[in-house]
Amino acid sequence: MSNRLINISLCVLAVVLLTSFSAIASADTPSADSPEQAARLLQQFENIVADPEARQKANAQGQERAQFCFRCHGKDGNSVRDYVPNLASQNPAYLFTQFEKFASGTRKNYVMSKLAEILSAEERVAVAVYFADKPVTPRDNRPEPDMKGRQVYQSLCFACHGDKGHGSHTYPRIAGQPYEFLEKTLLKFKQGDESRKNSPMTAVVGNMSDEDLKAVARWVANMP
Ligand code: HEC
Ligand code: HEC
Repeated sequence: MSNRLINISLCVLAVVLLTSFSAIASADTPSADSPEQAARLLQQFENIVADPEARQKANAQGQERAQFCFRCHGKDGNSVRDYVPNLASQNPAYLFTQFEKFASGTRKNYVMSKLAEILSAEERVAVAVYFADKPVTPRDNRPEPDMKGRQVYQSLCFACHGDKGHGSHTYPRIAGQPYEFLEKTLLKFKQGDESRKNSPMTAVVGNMSDEDLKAVARWVANMP
């Protein structure tokens, strides 16, 4: 599909999403207006994730709300398009906080920014819990990894993303993400792109050669 066609279909989809979501969105505050409110939301979220019963409930709710996410992120959170990240097994706090970033404009993506304005805090909790509990399925179109990628990973990435790339409470999981998403995202960080500004990643990859960047992306795409 040409870029133009993709843009048009995204717009159409966004309108459909907007209409459906306004119908189901509760009157809850859709996004944080201040750092204090953001911190409060995150705390509420942490409480739910830590309580097995509340988490189970959020998970069930999430399945319903997540219908709109399936056509891009996949039914089980394993993305169906290579430029779209997996949400499966992502650390739930990361999933949740990205909505704040899309809503505040620190992170930009046409569809996601619209969605972030519409989903209530409760719905964001529910979908984050739903997707975080799903396993990652290896993709069959992974490019060959090589030792150069492993070397870059071991020297520059593992300290934050962990030796398996599974992230932690504070860092995102990157293992098994689609190669295209990884390469594009790393290039955005390297170029200090508007769509992912104020990220610690910019300092990490700022001086990396494109060759090393692609090698590490191939490595990470193959991490289980
Ligand atoms: C039209 C396709 C589309 C739909 C529908 C969609 N997303 Fe996304 N989503 C994307 C793309 C593309 C990105 C990556 C944006 C970027 O490159 O920064 C993304 C990024 C994200 C991220 C950040 C993940 C990460 O690893 O950085 C989260 C969280 C997310 N989406 C959640 C959702 C949820 C929840 C829904 C449903 C309520 C949803 N998305 C619906 C396309 C979509
Ligand atoms: C100093 C800690 C740190 C190091 C070192 C680091 N990262 Fe990150 N990385 C982060 C943080 C924090 C984020 C999430 C914040 C953001 O989106 O800006 C992130 C986000 C990412 C993302 C986007 C994930 C997503 O789903 O949106 C990718 C891809 C990534 N890092 C890859 C790498 C690679 C590859 C390396 C090694 C070359 C690396 N990182 C080294 C801290 C680090």
